[in-house]
Amino acid sequence: MSSALFTPFKLKDVTLRNRVAVAPMCQYRAEDGFTNLWHEVHYPALARGGSGLVIVEATAVSPEGRITPGCTGLWSDQQAEGMARIAASIKEAGAVPGIQLGHAGRKASANRPWEGDDHIPAGEPGSWQPIAPSAIAFGAGLPRVPSEMTLDDIARVKADFVAAARRARDAGFEWLELHFAHGYLGQSFFSAHSNQRTDQYGGNAEGRSRFLLETLQAVREVWPENLPLTARFGVIEFDGRDEETLAESIVLTREMRRSGLDLLNVSIGFTIPQVNIPWKTPALLGPIAERVRREAELPVAAAWGLDAPQIAEGLIANQQTDLVMMARAHLANPHYTYHLAQVLDVPKADWILPAPYAHWLERYKGAGKSKA
Ligand SMILES: Cc1cc2nc3c(=O)[nH]c(=O)nc-3n(C[C@H](O)[C@H](O)[C@H](O)COP(=O)(O)O)c2cc1C
Repeated sequence: MSSALFTPFKLKDVTLRNRVAVAPMCQYRAEDGFTNLWHEVHYPALARGGSGLVIVEATAVSPEGRITPGCTGLWSDQQAEGMARIAASIKEAGAVPGIQLGHAGRKASANRPWEGDDHIPAGEPGSWQPIAPSAIAFGAGLPRVPSEMTLDDIARVKADFVAAARRARDAGFEWLELHFAHGYLGQSFFSAHSNQRTDQYGGNAEGRSRFLLETLQAVREVWPENLPLTARFGVIEFDGRDEETLAESIVLTREMRRSGLDLLNVSIGFTIPQVNIPWKTPALLGPIAERVRREAELPVAAAWGLDAPQIAEGLIANQQTDLVMMARAHLANPHYTYHLAQVLDVPKADWILPAPYAHWLERYKGAGKSKA
């Protein structure tokens, strides 16, 4: 059977073998931002499973931009050495290597999720002072009040994004995603909940968009023109002001497209804890991604519970998204993309896997298998 999900996707000079992408997933296993053996076994395993694109976890552009002490970083050339091995291993396994670069803003200096998922209290070992557009805490488990960024801070963080993007390029990544989502720094500049600045980086939607646009434009200068430059951005909060946020988000997305953005990974804002996300809605972000795609005239991707075979297939077949991002399903089964190909009856599905696996599955189909 032909499958829309298993058609190639070309963006700039990069061709993904299918429309399944492994979404970025923090491992919280780095030390001082350095990757280690864990990352070197984890990422190629995901890439072997057949997806078109594997995006390496949110990687901080500076030490203070880490979510937790276990987050990866690209603020030094030494860190780029480990990342180059990871990019090469993803490519060797047949997927396009991507990386997400971010700054955690006021959500920084948190414990690893399985050690509390809350702010490390000020003054305790391993904690640092978070920075943000305004001195407003996220709340709930992240109560620390961040320092309001000065104009110098803003210029420095933009330069940190540029330096990290240059390192990602030199390390062999072919797909860059700027993390402007999930209540981290970019998202918190955009949202009036977290940005109450009175200078050019705050105020109306244009002011609140400025940091994101300027960062994108600066990164575009160093990221190769022939490679996709993408961003993840929360276009909706589910805070009761959704139409307004969505309209402002679409205006920003169009601006980003004009500044060289090649695809938007449509997500949720997660800017404040007091939201009401209708998690039970099947394919929750499908119609929202489709609207952004149509109104901003830009390719899009989306995640959040889109991994069921018929849902993923429908999103691509109905042109709601160009890519389907899947995270947790690939943790449960790194060959999840292969599983999708089998369920969707993709001809010669075994060849989604690399030859050293596919050959044997194909050649001895059904032979010598115990019924037990
Ligand atoms: C362990 C884990 C780590 C995550 N880390 C990131 C991250 O680094 N960057 C990001 O944008 N989203 C992150 N997310 C969110 C995922 O990219 C994805 O949007 C979410 O899991 C929903 O997709 P799913 O339903 O396919 O799991 C993470 C999710 C998980 C489960």
